Amino acid sequence: MPNTKNSFSQHGYKIIRNAINPKILKKAQITILEKINLGKKISKTSETNLYNEFKKLVEKVKSDEFTFLSKISSQLIHLDIVSEILLEKKIIKFLKEILGSDLSHVNDTHILSLNFPNKADSKKNYFFKDWHQEIWSGSSIRTVQFWTPIFQKGSDEGQIELIEGSHAWGHVPHKNRSPITLPSNYKSKIIKLNKGDVIFFSTLLMHRSLECKNLRLASPILIKNFKDNSYSFENNRNWTIFSYSEITKIERILGNHYLSPFRIENTNVNSLIDGTLKKK
Ligand SMILES: [Fe+2]
Repeated sequence: MPNTKNSFSQHGYKIIRNAINPKILKKAQITILEKINLGKKISKTSETNLYNEFKKLVEKVKSDEFTFLSKISSQLIHLDIVSEILLEKKIIKFLKEILGSDLSHVNDTHILSLNFPNKADSKKNYFFKDWHQEIWSGSSIRTVQFWTPIFQKGSDEGQIELIEGSHAWGHVPHKNRSPITLPSNYKSKIIKLNKGDVIFFSTLLMHRSLECKNLRLASPILIKNFKDNSYSFENNRNWTIFSYSEITKIERILGNHYLSPFRIENTNVNSLIDGTLKKK
């Protein structure tokens, strides 16, 4: 019998501790800080200093939060830092187990979310969200959601609460970004992630934001198998491929679906296989 105990399908989520190398996280933090600081180098590199610098810079920002996030996410996209995070050993291993090896991640402004302290009103604060399922905003049920903190003061600051087993409920009726009804008794779980820890969850899993005590920047990212053609509105967003299966690599060498005979004689095919994929 296959072992389904503690599996993603049983729980609808999976937490992986210490999944991101601190060096990669620091690279993402410094990239963000330098972008906010109009390209000026950031010299303070201790963890506390980076957080304080982030807080100080955000307090000075005059634009609205969407314009602000669009500016800083563009730099992460330019440097392909999300792919670098998702190619971390423990993360890519898990993703291949649940989705296969042909993988892409969403790569647009919404790879970052900013939570202000004590603003627990989902109608006034867009990134403070009531109970919801990712499928409400167009995600396929064959896609997984990833979340990790980038700048946070501590893990006990109010992150995400999730409802255990809700990934098996199906589509929960909703209006104006809140459920119309929920079962009368359910068990919820509050997650506490340190920097470098990550959570993956089903796009059907009911979850909500918890009020945070301090400013936080996090990264919610959708990941899918790009060979899966399930219909979804999520194809209206930008995606970046970060992993190929061996079979897809053969397709890349062949180049076209007519399988042109002898298309590339006497050519080293290695450069065709990985194309522009981020190298580990
Ligand atoms: Fe969400």
